[in-house]
Amino acid sequence: MRVTVESGDITKAETPCIVVNLFEGVTAPAGATGAVDRALDGMIAELIAAGDIRGKSGELTLLHTFGKIPSPRVLIAGLGKSSEFTVDKVRDLSATIARYMRGRRIAAYATIAHGAGIAGLDAEACAQAIAEGAVLGLYRFDRHKKIDDDAFAVESMSIVENDNAKTATLERAAERGVIVAEAANFARDLANEPGNVLTPTEFAARAEAMAGEFGLGCKIFDKAQITEMGMGSFLGVAQGSAQPPQLIMLTYRGGGESKPLGLIGKGITFDTGGISIKPNEGMQEMKGDMSGGGAVIAAMMAIARLKPKVNVTALVPATENMPSGTAVKPTDVLRAMNGKTIEVTNTDAEGRLVLADALCYAIQLDLSPIVDVATLTGAISIALGNVAYGVFSPSDALVDRIDAASTAAGEKCWRLPMFAEYKELNKSQVADIRNSGARGAGSIAAAFFLREFVDDRPWAHLDIAGVDFSDADKGVLVKGSSGIPVRTLVNLALGLAESPLA
Ligand code: BES
Ligand code: MN
Ligand code: ZN
Repeated sequence: MRVTVESGDITKAETPCIVVNLFEGVTAPAGATGAVDRALDGMIAELIAAGDIRGKSGELTLLHTFGKIPSPRVLIAGLGKSSEFTVDKVRDLSATIARYMRGRRIAAYATIAHGAGIAGLDAEACAQAIAEGAVLGLYRFDRHKKIDDDAFAVESMSIVENDNAKTATLERAAERGVIVAEAANFARDLANEPGNVLTPTEFAARAEAMAGEFGLGCKIFDKAQITEMGMGSFLGVAQGSAQPPQLIMLTYRGGGESKPLGLIGKGITFDTGGISIKPNEGMQEMKGDMSGGGAVIAAMMAIARLKPKVNVTALVPATENMPSGTAVKPTDVLRAMNGKTIEVTNTDAEGRLVLADALCYAIQLDLSPIVDVATLTGAISIALGNVAYGVFSPSDALVDRIDAASTAAGEKCWRLPMFAEYKELNKSQVADIRNSGARGAGSIAAAFFLREFVDDRPWAHLDIAGVDFSDADKGVLVKGSSGIPVRTLVNLALGLAESPLA
């Protein structure tokens, strides 16, 4: 969809529908809503008085204007209580409105900038959130459907601002919103693809095509090169699959001589569990086990378009995790790129095995800070449900940056501890470390495993296994891949461009 910002009076907009809003408890609408109410001879106030419009959060009321204003329709969006209003609500509301328009086959609409200048919210953040919400909310994954009854595209939305002095700023903010939301939708496309389509080779091809389009550096390492580099842990996972592994590397250079931020993403294009095979129920979700890899690649797309003054390198070890006659077996010992040996006590703990070598390579490339993103453990959704992703890091400063980036994005995260006592969980009798073990603290054990491969670099691990997938349309989320944490990663890069990690 096309998003524009226009200055003017929304009551004059010539468009199939205009959108105004109403806080809960307001009886005499003011501002743009008041202006529309006057043009409609007090119809909105009357409907409020009658109790038909209450301004509840998410309440949508469509009125026909019968020639009283140029737009034939006006949608009144409830904002809920003004004391509870936030930028996150603006983003979700915008998504809900955009889907409502699609449902009614309305191809274009004009909206006031919900929240901008009211309830103490930042106007720029609101304009960005409106653009993000609409682009995220309208996302659909329909490329494999030949017959699609719901196919209808909302083509454009214009945000109408009556203060001329603000339009240029809001325009830039809306543009940023479209860019980051399109990146999140790219990540969704990758994760929603079935495993037979998005093989490691296809994953690499899509990353390479995107890099070509947006001017990123791209290098794909094949199996021979991965072997040459000594990535025995990554190869151990790949050895059971008929599909060759790929190590995808994308580079963005905007920060002169500074050390690049490293974004490392788990790229398991399908996780059967391997020989430690998963039960059937949980297995369907595992086409999305490359969500972390998809997120870092998609973040690079937005970074290439926004051009911050920072260097960024993304690394994605991509492979399937399959059971077969050549597959790695429980108790096999693998040797990672940094020489550490790993006893594979569970072949379903494969994410940490592929990330181990990618992290070693990140160290070799002198990336700093390093942030890895992975659908790593089922245990993280026992801890945090599907509300927040887990953050693990010894660095308070880096956690603060991630926290700020995720809050601005409306993608919630929560830090879990890395107390030294937990290191025990990965002790092996036969190798330097084992890949799974004790019953408790599964997500923390996984984080400690990864820590073995990052030396003392500033590093953080994001476990997104609880939030990578949504089972319903809800605000900016659409059933299927969530695209989390693409917008966090983009904000993180923008923040590091403003001020590097001390
Ligand atoms: N990809 C899974 C984690 C996962 C589970 C992601 C549910 C999304 C939803 C990962 O590879 C895995 O299988 N982890 C195991 C680790 C265990 C064997 C130590 C798990 O969480 O059960
Ligand atoms: Mn697994
Ligand atoms: Zn996995």
